[in-house]
Amino acid sequence: MKKIILTGDRPTGKLHVGHYVGSLKRRVELQNSGEFDEIYIMIADAQALTDNAEHPEKVRENIIEVALDYLSCGLDPEKVTIFIQSQVPELAELAFYYMNLVTVSRLQRNPTVKSEIQMRNFESSIPVGFFTYPISQASDITAFKATTVPVGEDQEPMIEQTREIVRKFNAVYGETLVEPEILLPDNKACLRLPGTDGKAKMSKSLGNCIYLSDTPQDVKKKIMSMYTDPNHIQVSDPGCVEGNCVFTYLDAFCRDEHFEKYLPDYKNLDELKAHYQRGGLGDVKVKKFLNKVLEEELTPIRARRAELEKDIPAIYDILKKGSVKAQKTAAVTLSEVKDAMRINYFDDEQLIMDQAQKYKNK
Ligand code: TRP
Repeated sequence: MKKIILTGDRPTGKLHVGHYVGSLKRRVELQNSGEFDEIYIMIADAQALTDNAEHPEKVRENIIEVALDYLSCGLDPEKVTIFIQSQVPELAELAFYYMNLVTVSRLQRNPTVKSEIQMRNFESSIPVGFFTYPISQASDITAFKATTVPVGEDQEPMIEQTREIVRKFNAVYGETLVEPEILLPDNKACLRLPGTDGKAKMSKSLGNCIYLSDTPQDVKKKIMSMYTDPNHIQVSDPGCVEGNCVFTYLDAFCRDEHFEKYLPDYKNLDELKAHYQRGGLGDVKVKKFLNKVLEEELTPIRARRAELEKDIPAIYDILKKGSVKAQKTAAVTLSEVKDAMRINYFDDEQLIMDQAQKYKNK
């Protein structure tokens, strides 16, 4: 069986370092591993509209931001197909049929949907499209016969929902769809990088994100004001590394060779943590180190972005070509789905003959 990746992001803002360690960096590695036959990266504008119906401009304007972020991180349109969800209408059609295989109560139990409803204060006025987006996400994944979906931990319930739909579809209509596997980051700190304020999630509305497109000055400012251990007041005080953002970011980003380069008094992160816990290590020193580590990662990304920004029409062209290719692939799956459901009336000679026979014998 072919190994196929599908993943994507909602274009509701620029991508941040949480997206980077949680998913983007991995995608580039997967792309370069040569292990996959096809890789599709989707800008999920239709999904973004499920809770931004009144602000289509927000979605429209962020498509280019996400595309620039993708390309500047090293996704290569020669190796991966980058496309825009709404330009593949087959996805909506698939979702329409999958909806019959999912109950309302099953959707209500989806933990991600549940917490998003709370976050958006939707409780009594949930848009139907938003409520059913896990089904639409199953279309995104199955349309490309994806075997592997590299995403953050918060997407786990979506993949589980997809797997259920696949099993149900195949049981009812015959073996047609492919059951995908989730691929989570292997570094725990990368599963969900906290905001710079220590809150569990990076979110634009909380203003606690470090964006891939931030300037070095912005990044430095954000790091220097990061949440650490509120009880670590004097340098000599013992400090706590758990829940301390600076250390969580170091867990996600730093490697032993960074110490040799930028902080040779320590061999590795364990030694640095031990010193912090003992007392005698100030936040500023650790923050400065984190800044260097992050800059090493962000500098080449920023440079590529600056190049790409010079030719925006070329980026739209990449997205258009990707969307055409994705549409063709999805059309094949849709046709197989309709065959399996036997709603491909005009291609179904048996059906036409049987009906003709029935009326002849009348
Ligand atoms: N739900 C994902 C997010 O919020 C975006 C997305 C839409 C997606 N369809 C997908 C991710 C299919 C993986 C596979 O970021």
